[in-house]
Amino acid sequence: MNNNPSHIAIIMDGNGRWAEIQGNNRTYGHEKGSEVVRSITTYCAKNPEINRLTLYAFSTENWKRPKLEVEFLMKLLQKYLKKELPTYLKGNIRFQPIGDLSGFSASLQKTIVEVQEATRHCTGLTQSLALNYGGRDEIIRAAVTLQASNTPISHDLITSALDCDCDVDLLIRTGGDHRLSNFMLWQSAYAELFFTDTLWPQFTTEELEKIIHKFKQVERRFGGLH
Ligand code: FPP
Repeated sequence: MNNNPSHIAIIMDGNGRWAEIQGNNRTYGHEKGSEVVRSITTYCAKNPEINRLTLYAFSTENWKRPKLEVEFLMKLLQKYLKKELPTYLKGNIRFQPIGDLSGFSASLQKTIVEVQEATRHCTGLTQSLALNYGGRDEIIRAAVTLQASNTPISHDLITSALDCDCDVDLLIRTGGDHRLSNFMLWQSAYAELFFTDTLWPQFTTEELEKIIHKFKQVERRFGGLH
């Protein structure tokens, strides 16, 4: 058995609850959560078994949150990308956003594209932040693109038209809930799912290591027998 968690995807849940437990604003939890994004990304970049890390940072449904929280998340994202560019470059990490970026302000889109371009040559870990991302929205946008071409529909054609053409091996959700929340619906068809009660700001590289260890014990059959 040789399971490599080549593509890890994480639903980073629990920022708001973590902050509220301590009597702080939910936004404090997002701020702390962004630090965990950095540490988990850096850890994955150093692990040669991991090629891709996809993090659910803002869903197509997150626009329903209070205006102030949405604005805070937008600013935090922009600040994070600007500040962390040296981390990406030092770690040979390629930044590849997924999602419908047209929903963001021109200024945020510019920063996203700048970091994407500046890290295009990086050959280590690919870190994807899912931004204004929804699995159904991704499939709909792919279908609209394919509608225009006259090519016969196939598994590979649909995969190639998605924002992310890489299957997820290991999907983790923090924060105690057991659902996918519209994340990587196509790519997670055969992913191993791990749920932890740990709130995202408290998630550590040690816990990730333990999950990877458990993942490696699983026999993945992909619908076959063994
Ligand atoms: C879920 O916690 C988290 C989000 C909706 C956003 C994820 C954002 C971050 C981890 C920080 C920003 C990221 C970057 C890359 C700068 P929640 O607010 O739903 O928590 P709750 O379930 O406790 O309310």
